[in-house]
Amino acid sequence: MGRLFVVSNRVAQPGGVQIGGLATALQTVLREQRGVWVGWSGKYGEGPPHIHIGEGIRYCTLDIPKPDFNAYYHHFANRTLWPLFHYRVDLVDYRREAYEGYRDVNKRFAHVLAQELRPDDVVWVHDYHLIPLAHEMRKLGLAQRIGFFLHIPMPSWDVLSMLPGHEELLGLLADYDLVGLQTVGDMENFRGYLQAIGKHHPRCELATFPIGIDAQAVAQVAAAPAALSAADELKASLSGKRLAIGVDRLDYSKGLPERFRAFARHLEHRKARREPLTYLQIAPTTREAVPEYQTLRKELEGLAGHINGLHARPDWTPIRYVNHSYPHSILTGFYRAADLALVTPLRDGMNLVAKEYVASQDASDPGVLVLSRMAGAADALPEALLVNPHDVDDVANAIDTAVSMPASERRQRWEAMMDNLRRHDIKRWASDFLERLRRSTHGDGHAGGSTADAQPTAREDDSPPRKLALASIGDAHLSTKNAINI
Ligand code: UDP
Ligand code: G6P
Repeated sequence: MGRLFVVSNRVAQPGGVQIGGLATALQTVLREQRGVWVGWSGKYGEGPPHIHIGEGIRYCTLDIPKPDFNAYYHHFANRTLWPLFHYRVDLVDYRREAYEGYRDVNKRFAHVLAQELRPDDVVWVHDYHLIPLAHEMRKLGLAQRIGFFLHIPMPSWDVLSMLPGHEELLGLLADYDLVGLQTVGDMENFRGYLQAIGKHHPRCELATFPIGIDAQAVAQVAAAPAALSAADELKASLSGKRLAIGVDRLDYSKGLPERFRAFARHLEHRKARREPLTYLQIAPTTREAVPEYQTLRKELEGLAGHINGLHARPDWTPIRYVNHSYPHSILTGFYRAADLALVTPLRDGMNLVAKEYVASQDASDPGVLVLSRMAGAADALPEALLVNPHDVDDVANAIDTAVSMPASERRQRWEAMMDNLRRHDIKRWASDFLERLRRSTHGDGHAGGSTADAQPTAREDDSPPRKLALASIGDAHLSTKNAINI
């Protein structure tokens, strides 16, 4: 069987602290499968890719010249696609030259893959940075099976159609054999989009694969000495007060200002004043060159200062706001020390922090998860206290409910959530996707099923890259409840 190539912009280099669900998840999958991870090296420049092996993973990383990286990552990926796909159309900044830079960097990735791939390898591409990659690979004659997984939400047609050139960009997905989305809602949105523009491609399959965590491994890390001592130290610092925790990249999709305001509203409630709750927000900075992230950082600093100034006492600070990042060995201890977690993104593809918080709890005395209905994780965790993150009163009331929830109810909710996390873990996510990709009814000229010494990787018919066929969505084949051909 061929090797697994995973391609993503962000690569978890051995030894570093990974923030971001994509890197956390792929690291687990690649360690398990001993695959090859292709991505950005983290450095600017030209030259051949860097190859190294660490923790059972073969890394192939490429430097990208600064101007190209600015156009591709700082602009088109994170100032155009990211806000658009998170429904923040007010923040979308579209520039043609940034789109061109994005396409150029995708070409670079395709050339690297062309040098590395063997005919029977399978390629799994991740996230919005790399939508055009399969198209660029097909242009180079690569006929391997190629799958794509979108970690972020897929918005509805009315939002997608605001992007200039949306038909071209989203049409490039037709060069994948399988496109995976997080939730049924995401798939319905994309199906609605295809219907609205009157296109489908009969050979590219679309299906949902909600991403999970390695629940057992997270539970073990949370019960290991490093996490337990982190939990003890944190609890000791609270002088008997209860703790709420939030862990998010400092990103506007995470709803942090709204969450700070909701916590302030909770503090205003009489009950809360009798038994103050401390709120620890870990918010490592991310995408710092992007102006919208700089603005958010200033806003949060102002809010935390304002709320603390208003409510703090000489011996108590209500909000502990931390911009450092922590490894899982410590983070899971913090989760375990917290009586409740506030996971209230305005939009989120999945949100792994919600799942990690649950998996880190002590089974005999678990904490309560307050979870946004706008996170993909809400589908899998209906036993959390589900809230509308835009409604400060809803979130403040959920905090009140969480702090007064009896242990029996906390255990009942936690057991139901853990059951789901164990059944739908990260290994199942990867194997479901990869099995489906390997079974996909690929277009003409694919290398699937060929032996390693079978000849060329080029498409047999040497045909031009496949295009989305114009047809009505009514022709689309609905193979299962959560899978269609696009
Ligand atoms: N994370 C971490 N250390 C930190 C903050 C976050 O390891 O200090 C990890 C966290 O444990 C989770 C990931 O970053 O695995 C965040 O993933 P999530 O899906 O919640 O959000 P994303 O950042 O992908 O939008
Ligand atoms: C989200 C995205 C990932 C990204 C991560 C961290 O999870 O879906 O693709 O890697 O955020 O963001 P960064 O820009 O640092 O890679």
